[in-house]
Amino acid sequence: MTYVIAVAGKGGVGKTTFAALAVRHLCDATGDVVLAVDADPNSNLGEKLGTPPGRTLGDIREEMLVNGDELPKGVSKQEHIDYQIRLALKEGHEFDLLTMGRQEGPGCYCYVNNMLRTIVDSLADRYKYVVIDNEAGMEHLSRRTTKRSDVLFVLHDGSKASLEASRRISALADEMKIKIGRKALVCNLLSSGSEALSIPELPGFDAAYGIRRSSKIQAKMVEMESLMDIPKTDPAFSDVARVVDAERKRN
Ligand SMILES: Nc1ncnc2c1ncn2[C@@H]1O[C@H](COP(=O)(O)OP(=O)(O)OP(=O)(O)O)[C@@H](O)[C@H]1O
Ligand SMILES: [Mg+2]
Repeated sequence: MTYVIAVAGKGGVGKTTFAALAVRHLCDATGDVVLAVDADPNSNLGEKLGTPPGRTLGDIREEMLVNGDELPKGVSKQEHIDYQIRLALKEGHEFDLLTMGRQEGPGCYCYVNNMLRTIVDSLADRYKYVVIDNEAGMEHLSRRTTKRSDVLFVLHDGSKASLEASRRISALADEMKIKIGRKALVCNLLSSGSEALSIPELPGFDAAYGIRRSSKIQAKMVEMESLMDIPKTDPAFSDVARVVDAERKRN
């Protein structure tokens, strides 16, 4: 069975950082190839993983628009999906990366989202672990890019606004009847020593965790820098590893 991790939360609270460190930890700890899915139209998971994205699903969509939506003659739907996967999947030694990207021009993301869902469903069996980095807010929930996940990590930075966003994300996930095994509230950017004192909890969540602020990650400042050289002893990395393990071992 595939273990699917989804990451959500208010803008700028550290979702992509958490997702990238989770991918790295799962690769290191399990030796399995992990599927990393960048479901944020403002894609930057690839950069944090040190792998610039190749073609995105948005790009492929654009090309398909030119050629029309019809399936080529004699090609089954599954063959067509497999073909799209081959175009979009960036394969690496330790993880594969699938990037949603943005759909140019007017119109909604329905098609790209449907494609993403179909592809993730179809790919799921091939991986033991899938990590999905979502865009900020709740749009992705209403668009159901996260169809099923074993754990939804909802990140916040301790601010009132980010906690309120977390509460609403949890409520919306319930309302939309999205299949989620567990919901975990994650307080990011804790100052060292404060973690035992100040990890907020919220009703509706199955667990609450804290991730310490990392001076190494902070020093990178520039969003484009990879997190692949962060040492295992880094406070944020070791916290993400602990949190991911605590959840997956419950499975
Ligand atoms: N634990 C941490 N320690 C130090 N810096 C961090 C930590 N987590 C995140 N950051 C920094 O905070 C900034 C925002 O992080 P990140 O891009 O992961 O947030 P995000 O929630 O994905 O943002 P967006 O909503 O724009 O997608 C980045 O500069 C990142 O390096
Ligand atoms: Mg992000």
